[in-house]
Amino acid sequence: MTANSNRIRQRYDRLAPYFDSLEGVLEGLLFRRLRKKLWVQAAGAHILEVGVGTGKNFAFYPDDARMTGIDFSPRMLEIAQRKQQRKQIAVDLTLMDVQSLDYADNSFDTVIGSFVFCSVPKPRKGLKELYRVCKPGGQVLLLEHVLSSNKILATLMNLFNPLVVNTLGANINRQTLKNVQACPFQKIFIDPASSDMIKLIRAIK
Ligand SMILES: C[S@@+](CC[C@H](N)C(=O)[O-])C[C@H]1O[C@@H](n2cnc3c(N)ncnc32)[C@H](O)[C@@H]1O
Repeated sequence: MTANSNRIRQRYDRLAPYFDSLEGVLEGLLFRRLRKKLWVQAAGAHILEVGVGTGKNFAFYPDDARMTGIDFSPRMLEIAQRKQQRKQIAVDLTLMDVQSLDYADNSFDTVIGSFVFCSVPKPRKGLKELYRVCKPGGQVLLLEHVLSSNKILATLMNLFNPLVVNTLGANINRQTLKNVQACPFQKIFIDPASSDMIKLIRAIK
């Protein structure tokens, strides 16, 4: 793991015990509704969730699919594992870096992640991995916050980005849609429920 990846991983290890309460208000007001919109699109027999975190998406897992989840922060994953046991969620959880997935090409029908590519140190490398492990005709589903298209807001976001990365491990100026477009997907859809800074992306391989 590179020094930069290690630094981000440590940020999430440190945040893990507080993560659910930190996002509590936004979760109730906005994120939960968007998560639902993302997960209703999840389809197929085998689904991979990347950047599982503390397992906030467990409530949306489909009943009829085999679920696999990965995260590179041992502390975040520990919380997810405790939640998994408490709520009896059927998912194989593994410590793994999305930038180098230990799965064969074309393994999953759906590859899905929420609020992950803001913190992946090399996002294009990670997205290429999502593309690689997704089956042809399968889909990559993402819910991500991105840099605003408003120039003043974007300038502020760029300015404050180093501070946010240092405290929370997340970049607030990622251009995830552009990064997805840099992968050779056949089609990319942006859900109309998306806003300037929060995007629901569906990319078909
Ligand atoms: C903001 S949290 C989001 C967690 C969860 N997806 C959610 O919606 O609540 C970002 C998660 O991505 C994980 N992550 C960041 N970079 C990663 C990488 N390179 N490989 C695997 N997981 C990564 C972090 O450890 C963290 O758990």
